[in-house]
Amino acid sequence: MSVIQSIASVAKPWQELYSHSKVIAGAVTYAHIGGLLVGGGFAIASDRSALRAIKGSAAERAHMLREFAAVHRPVILALTVVVLSGVALVLSDIETFLVSPVYWIKMGLVVSLAVNGWLLMQSERRLVTDPADTNRAWVLLRRGSFASITLWLCTALAGVILANS
Ligand code: HEM
Repeated sequence: MSVIQSIASVAKPWQELYSHSKVIAGAVTYAHIGGLLVGGGFAIASDRSALRAIKGSAAERAHMLREFAAVHRPVILALTVVVLSGVALVLSDIETFLVSPVYWIKMGLVVSLAVNGWLLMQSERRLVTDPADTNRAWVLLRRGSFASITLWLCTALAGVILANS
């Protein structure tokens, strides 16, 4: 028995429940979409504010950095809901998803999104300590914000392709 088959046999009761209950399937998918709506929505809105504030005054940048720091907790909470519901979705049909190249591309995007988010937090912390125009962290914050917007949109696209493949 392969690793995937043994995981599938352990996940069988959940797969049965998921495939026979529209309410449970709907609730898990809603948790997944709801989580990305909140997490992705807050993240992309903050990225946009950062890209605008970087060209603005010192006061605008200071305000943006405070807002940026305050948004991490709800984004990480929402991403946790996305990941937990994602695992529930994978376990609902493990033999399909774990052999899907689209699924693994998507997981690569999710990991890139998390790493980029961590790097953004490091740049933000450096700028809170030293907000000088010359601080190279402003360039990293700009690049990280563009990467964040791109990664959220690409991950959502990979999710839709996965759901329809
Ligand atoms: C930021 C991270 C993520 C985003 C933006 C995202 C987005 C999406 C979207 C938009 C869909 C399509 C839903 C539909 O049309 O029914 C989807 C489906 C799916 N996602 Fe995610 N997802 C993310 C993370 C994850 C993670 C971490 C996992 C697994 C651990 C995962 C597993 C799945 C699976 C298996 C489906 C297909 C569900 C089906 O066929 O009904 N996702 N995702």
